Amino acid sequence: MDRLEISDLIVAFDPHDGRRLPVRRAEVVEQLRAAGDARAARIVAGLPAGPDGVLEPAAVDRLLIGVHTELQRLSEELRIGRRLVHLLGPLLTAIRTTGVRGPYRLVDVGCGLGYLIRWLAATGALGPDVELVGVDLDAALVGEADRLARAEGLSCRFVHGDAFALPEAATVYVSTGVLHHFSEPALADFFRAQGASPALAFCHYDIAATGLAPVGAWVFHRARMRHPLGRHDGVASARRAHSDEALLRAAAAAGMRALLYEPRRAANPFCTTLRPVLAVRPPLEAPLRAALGRASRRLLGDEHFTPAAA
Ligand SMILES: C[S@@+](CC[C@H](N)C(=O)[O-])C[C@H]1O[C@@H](n2cnc3c(N)ncnc32)[C@H](O)[C@@H]1O
Repeated sequence: MDRLEISDLIVAFDPHDGRRLPVRRAEVVEQLRAAGDARAARIVAGLPAGPDGVLEPAAVDRLLIGVHTELQRLSEELRIGRRLVHLLGPLLTAIRTTGVRGPYRLVDVGCGLGYLIRWLAATGALGPDVELVGVDLDAALVGEADRLARAEGLSCRFVHGDAFALPEAATVYVSTGVLHHFSEPALADFFRAQGASPALAFCHYDIAATGLAPVGAWVFHRARMRHPLGRHDGVASARRAHSDEALLRAAAAAGMRALLYEPRRAANPFCTTLRPVLAVRPPLEAPLRAALGRASRRLLGDEHFTPAAA
């Protein structure tokens, strides 16, 4: 069965100007049936559409905001903020020690409801010299992120659009739960865009492709998510997760020093749920390892993933 996520199919945006495009319910249902996913087809067939058969944008937005709100609860339980700071803290220390002057701009690509950026803003965990920006192609999600940040009085920014078309460059790009949405060639393009930008580093967290991931995702999403779409996509995303080798291959397209933190061989499969692929400009690797201390042993490059060792 093809591993399609419903949430990728029920919204569409013009890649040039970000405009919302109409999505015909029957076409999505057919696509899911053709992929052998009758359950997903039934979920989409139950979504409201107008007389022209186009899915109702407002209803789709409400649904996706609801599902992402439930997803935020998972991020809280998995302590996503702390996990990122464990690596991003030393990464920013390394950047500071190389003499690059702040303020530094951290851009969360595909921020959704902006949980990570809002958590970082609320805790001040990365320091006052780090500007926090969340970007998403989905206007409804990023609009809700902005509303929540204002309600919480947080010092951070949310932008609707393509994270790689921002007027100001990022110092560091991050993301959570985004990489598995791309095919391997698209993933290489994603990393290439960051390598071609002035960014000094990127650090993208996604589901670890362990044998246990789909079962773990089923248990977590069953326990924590109410809507069938969220439950379906949670398991589909675990099945689509890229292997460590695929992530490193794609990250090499950035032309930077690509590394995995806690890849399968350096981690307990019962504990690892999300782990990052990162890349730094080469002069940053030594200061990053120094700032990480003993934990730098868990940072492995492609020399550890030769075909014989993989
Ligand atoms: C599954 S959501 C991840 C949400 C969020 N990071 C979280 O953990 O809850 C993936 C998001 O990435 C966004 N996205 C993908 N490519 C993007 C890009 N180049 N610029 C901005 N947003 C992007 C999509 O619009 C989608 O909302």
